[in-house]
Parts: sequence; structure tokens; C-alpha cells
Amino acid sequence: TRVDKAGYRHFMAKEIAEQPTVLAGALSAYLDGDDIDFGEAGLDFTGTERLTMVACGTAYYACLTAKYWFERLAGLPVEVDIASEFRYREPPITSGTTALFVSQSGETADTLAALRYCRDKADRILSVVNVDESSIARESDLALPIHAGVEVGVASTKAFTCQLNVLLLMAIEAAFQRGRITAKEKAQHLADLRSLPGIFNVALERDEIIADSARDMVEARDVLFLGRGLMYPLALEGALKLKEISYVHAEAYASGELKHGPIALIDASVPVVVMAPRDSLFDKTVSNMQEVMARGGNVLLVTDAAGAAAAGSEVWRTIILPEVPEMLAPLLYALPAQLLAYHGAVAKGTDVDQPRNLAKSVTVE
Ligand code: G6P
Repeated sequence: TRVDKAGYRHFMAKEIAEQPTVLAGALSAYLDGDDIDFGEAGLDFTGTERLTMVACGTAYYACLTAKYWFERLAGLPVEVDIASEFRYREPPITSGTTALFVSQSGETADTLAALRYCRDKADRILSVVNVDESSIARESDLALPIHAGVEVGVASTKAFTCQLNVLLLMAIEAAFQRGRITAKEKAQHLADLRSLPGIFNVALERDEIIADSARDMVEARDVLFLGRGLMYPLALEGALKLKEISYVHAEAYASGELKHGPIALIDASVPVVVMAPRDSLFDKTVSNMQEVMARGGNVLLVTDAAGAAAAGSEVWRTIILPEVPEMLAPLLYALPAQLLAYHGAVAKGTDVDQPRNLAKSVTVE
């Protein structure tokens, strides 16, 4: 398939803006009324005792996010690992294990090797891929497409949110099959998901405000990202994106780890991006934020209106997103993570779609 930039300055900008459309398309491919359609064979989680998820890069952060969903919604124990570590550690895989591989390209060498390691050990091999005819898809018992369409930008954007979408659908289905949620609750989760593309479109209108913050942020030498719970993997993804395309050193920490090291770095020269919708963990994150501000740190808070009102006036900059149900927040908060990196890179004049030293698909070890 030939794809062009459709009037956008970069593929990355186009792929970010496309997210409401591709997410809506993916949902209509998977949803059939109040049922989730995983294909003819279906997807049964009733006998699953644990899930082992393996991936690289951005796909790995999608797995880290999904761990919260599978554990909290479905009560399913989840292990997540980086493919290059997993494959050489000889991890014991016991019966009852479903192995799940997430890969945009379906060709990442380490992820494929990890899959092959699990081949005769796990009960079954599942994958979540963007390229349906890829090696990882072919070698899986069931490959679930994310329906993101061709992604050209080296830094993954729409593939990430589309991976999250499929992983959340799987977690909802697992929760239902395992009797952890009722049919009514399942229908509510699906209705929430269906509202997401519209909410995402509203959030895209924050583009200019995010660009302003990004321009200030990339002046810094180091940037710290903080998040708790579902926002922790998002913080990791935000830091990765910034490193990848704007070449600014960025690190992410779980907010609760701030005291265990990174707080030593805080001064007025290190912007701290805090991802925190007003959810059940918000107050804890606010106290971490106050620790940063008390040391002269500049907080860039990404939150919703309620969070902005509760955060106080000391915050350096606030990006306000629409309110979403807690479980959906990672899909929406991916957007500011992407746009901060994108506009930061544009301001610095880097090669956004082809960042130095990076490849779209790493097919050699
Ligand atoms: C490369 C790409 C990343 C991607 C990672 C995993 O590093 O630059 O964007 O997240 O590979 O790729 P995969 O195709 O397995 O998702």
C-alpha cells in the first residue's frame, strides 16, 4: 500500500491525527453489539492461570499498561517482559500459561525469538500485531490485528493506541468470562470505548497548547516524566517518544519512586511532566508534585478539569484533557505524550519521521 502525508508536514503528525478514525475502525471490526468478536475460534480465558506478555519498545509499554487491565479487571496474574531479556533468561513456563506477544511490525527479531521459546511450553501463543502476514502473526495460534493501517513514522503512535485498544478488549472479555464483571458492566466498558474516538477528537484541539509547552520543554537538557498506576507506563512512553525524536534526555519514574532517587535531580532546569487524571490515585500524585515544586521544579501537569482545579496554582503549565473513565485514560493520555515529543522535535528541527540511529523494525538482534 502506498501512503502519503495527506497534507501533513510529517507522517508522525498524520498518524497522530488519524487515531480517532483508526480507533473507530478497529472498534467496529471487533464489536458486534455487546459482544466482542475475536474471530471464528473465539478467545477463551476461563482456563488461563497466568498471562506472560513479551515485547520491545513502545509495544512493551502497551503490555505494561495491559497488565493493570488484566489484573484489575480480570483478576489474571500477568508478567511482562522485554523480549531481549526474556529470551535468554530461560524463564520457566508452566501449564496454564498463555503467552502474548505484541508487535507492530510482527518482525522484531527478539520478540519472534521469545515467541519461539514459548512455542512448546505455553498452553497457547497469542499475538497482537499490525501486519497480519508477519512472522509473529503466522507463528501464533491466534493473531489479533490492531487495524492501525500502515505506520510510517519510526516513532510509533497510532499503533500504540490501537494495541491498547485490542488489549483492553481482551481484558474486558477475560473479566467477563471469568465472572469478574457482569454482562451489564461489560456493555458499559464497551460503550465507554465507543465514546473514545469522539473524546480523542476533542483532545486533538489541544494541539496548539501542547505545542507551546513542548517548545519550552525541549530547551531543557533533561526531562522527567512521572505517573502512577495506569499512568506509569504512559510516563515511560512519553519519555521514550521524547528521547527518540527530539533527542532530549528523558526519564520516567513511577511517582512513588520519586523519593528513591530522581528527586535528587530536581531544580528549575528539569521540567517534570506529570500525567495524572483525577482518578483514585490523584491525591497521591499531587503530593509527589508538591515535593517537586517545593524544590523549585517546573511541573507540566497533564490532567482533566477536575485535576487542574485541585492541583493548585504553583503548577508551571497545565494541559487539560476531557474527562474519561479511569480504564480508558491510557488511550487518551497517549496523545499529549505523542504531541509533546512531536512538537518538541519540530521546534528543534530534527528529522521527525526518520530519527537518527533508529529503525522502524528491528529484524536483527
Ligand atoms: C523499534 C521501533 C519502535 C517499536 C519497536 C518494537 O524500536 O522504532 O517504534 O516500538 O521497534 O517494534 P514492533 O514492530 O515489534 O512493535
